[in-house]
Amino acid sequence: MRGSKQLRTISSSFRNGVSVRIRPVGALLVLLVSLACGRPGAQPGAAPVAGIAPNWPYLGKAKVTEARSAMVVSGSPIASEVGREILRQGGNAVDAAVAIGFALAVVHPEAGNIGGGGFMIIRPRDGSVYALDYRETAPSRATRDMYRSAGPEASVTGQLAAGVPGAVAGLTEAHRRFGRLPFSTVIDPAIRLAEDGFEVDEYRSLSIADDSARLALFEASRASFLPGGRPPVPGSTLRQPDLGLTLETIRDSGAAGFYRGRVADLIVAEMERGGGIISHHDLTSYQAIWRDPVTIDYRGYTIYSMPPASSGGVTMGEILNIMEGFEPLAPFGSAALMHQEAEAMRRAFTDRNMYLGDPAFVQNPVERLLSKEYAASLRKEIGEQASVTPKFEPGGRGASTTHYSVVDAEGNAVSCTTTLNNSYGSAVTVTAAGFLLNDEMDDFATSPGEPNMYGLVQGEANAIAPGKRMLSAMTPSIVLDRAKQLFLVVGTPGGPRIITMVYHVISNLIDHRMKLPDAVMAPRMHHQGLPDSLQVEEAGFPPATLDSLRARGHGVAFRGTWGDVEAIIRTGQGWQGVSDPRRGGGGAGY
Ligand code: DON
Repeated sequence: MRGSKQLRTISSSFRNGVSVRIRPVGALLVLLVSLACGRPGAQPGAAPVAGIAPNWPYLGKAKVTEARSAMVVSGSPIASEVGREILRQGGNAVDAAVAIGFALAVVHPEAGNIGGGGFMIIRPRDGSVYALDYRETAPSRATRDMYRSAGPEASVTGQLAAGVPGAVAGLTEAHRRFGRLPFSTVIDPAIRLAEDGFEVDEYRSLSIADDSARLALFEASRASFLPGGRPPVPGSTLRQPDLGLTLETIRDSGAAGFYRGRVADLIVAEMERGGGIISHHDLTSYQAIWRDPVTIDYRGYTIYSMPPASSGGVTMGEILNIMEGFEPLAPFGSAALMHQEAEAMRRAFTDRNMYLGDPAFVQNPVERLLSKEYAASLRKEIGEQASVTPKFEPGGRGASTTHYSVVDAEGNAVSCTTTLNNSYGSAVTVTAAGFLLNDEMDDFATSPGEPNMYGLVQGEANAIAPGKRMLSAMTPSIVLDRAKQLFLVVGTPGGPRIITMVYHVISNLIDHRMKLPDAVMAPRMHHQGLPDSLQVEEAGFPPATLDSLRARGHGVAFRGTWGDVEAIIRTGQGWQGVSDPRRGGGGAGY
């Protein structure tokens, strides 16, 4: 990993010269665990959970916030406070979500953004459900094979890596349709945090340090994130005046303040500085899109999740549908369960990588992939031994995203995942506009049939085309219980592992009867078809379990630890917010 330190990250090369940063182990892990322990609200004690290795460092360490009326959890405790204050001022869950989205662009720059995109599931208290797609699009000058000549690094770092940003269109559209407070009120906290500065904590200091070599490549990124040539130390104040000015322009002109005028001019100038191709036309024609959410029935629970252009809802639904037919389900952490899960995931990801893409460009066979009959036919193929992922026919790196969940005092709920793709996206900060651009173009099958930054091997359905949305794995989800009451709001970063993490949390709660803190801290496994290996979090599962999986024919691969689940569950007394102990998030409620 470029510029990363061995102790802080584990890198795993999927493609020559391009690696995925698997979230921190070693020093950072110890630091985060100790931070979590010291923080009020950290779960006391370490209740062992059957199936988990006894030395799993996150036992009992999920960060828990309890509140009677309303709850916010996000990847940044400061952004969660912003959301709570908006709720206290009479804002609803969408007002809070929009305020958090803009605040994260300031206080969580590795993934919070206005230069990226995301997906939002909204469930007002009346029970209707909406899915908002504000994924980036390929610029109109993009071509299918543009990175074959430009080289694989060009889809990850630099101006050419950026898709047309969707975040400002999405956040302003969500607010236009559902917001209650004036837009200026919800964006104002972000402006203040950018202009007055915010106190950098340990997590964010290490995160910037980790990517400092990439950020240092671009003058405006150096100026924003490496003041005095160094990552800001914990406790220091990081001010971002250029970003403050951009946010003021958005406050005054809405989405037009980003897609037209001075900020648009600065984006296009930034493109010209480094061989990028986003044009004024691309910016003015960008539109967020309302879609019908994917609905999954799982053992009587109802899950609403994201349809394409994210693969999240469909792929998770396919996994859940396959698993639903295994009765009784083997216990959590057993080799029998992990084998069945790996086989279900292998099949769901094979379909994902073959068939799914932007619905404006390809026919997504969503109904077929989500049918219980199809799941039953796949389940029948699963025996006692590992199968082999079919050879991929394309015809048919550190990374950071961030998730936030909100429930307000009226029971309106929002689940939102947003990303720049890689940590700090393309590493390019738009000069004089103060925000980072995404490197979302790498989520396309930039070379169909070849692995991307996450090792995903994808096909023509996700090939690059002008104006097309690159397929995502983001899986913001809302779950209702058997009585159709709001039960869970959940999501996480983690590239393709997002899908399996959200699956794990849901299954841990429903099938393994875990409490939410245990469901979140529990170690995770993942299979995505190709590479054909069963990935496990290091130190999560007893060696005997892993030996048993090897005996079934699985190649077991350790991949550090991953994810940052931010989830809210209904309790008898109100709401419980749980932030993943693996990273630097936190909750706020009242
Ligand atoms: O949309 C996607 O699937 C990816 N761009 C998400 C990247 C991600 O989650 C990286 N975070 N750890």
